[in-house]
Amino acid sequence: MKTRILVCGIMTAALSFNAAAADDTSLPSAQGAMRASSKSEVSFKNDVMPILQDHCISCHAPGTKGVMKSGLDLTSYENLMKGTVFGPVVIPGDSASSTFTKLLTGTNKGLKMPMGLNAEGTLDIQYIMTLRNWVKQGAKNN
Ligand code: HEC
Repeated sequence: MKTRILVCGIMTAALSFNAAAADDTSLPSAQGAMRASSKSEVSFKNDVMPILQDHCISCHAPGTKGVMKSGLDLTSYENLMKGTVFGPVVIPGDSASSTFTKLLTGTNKGLKMPMGLNAEGTLDIQYIMTLRNWVKQGAKNN
């Protein structure tokens, strides 16, 4: 009985280790056009902007409801870094505290982005990893 519990413990530990590793480095390669590994540098222009264009700016360009409600304009690096009327949404180097990346996986006062995109309102995991890694790498205008 004791060995069983021990084996279970080891398996759980191994599983969570795998999950943690997957979170940071590996990618589902099927749609892996995006370079999102934390090892390769993410480019704002080539990697981040296309995601914002496809999934965010329908509501975050001047005159749209995301901008009217929050002031967050996602059509350029400068405007993204300005953030909302309440302040910055990107904290360079800290994707866990940046609202920009936090709202992609969890909610904040009931908000989750991109709003209403699909039933779960969730981006594909490789896009989330690209945005997170860009923030972690210092949120550069590269
Ligand atoms: C269907 C419309 C829509 C889409 C698509 C959308 N947003 Fe939003 N977003 C909004 C609205 C509306 C608000 C303002 C919500 C509020 O303040 O009540 C907002 C607010 C935000 C905020 C500020 C939240 C805060 O704490 O004040 C962030 C960050 C954000 N969006 C990021 C994104 C990102 C990143 C994407 C693309 C992955 C995205 N949004 C796509 C509508 C949208």
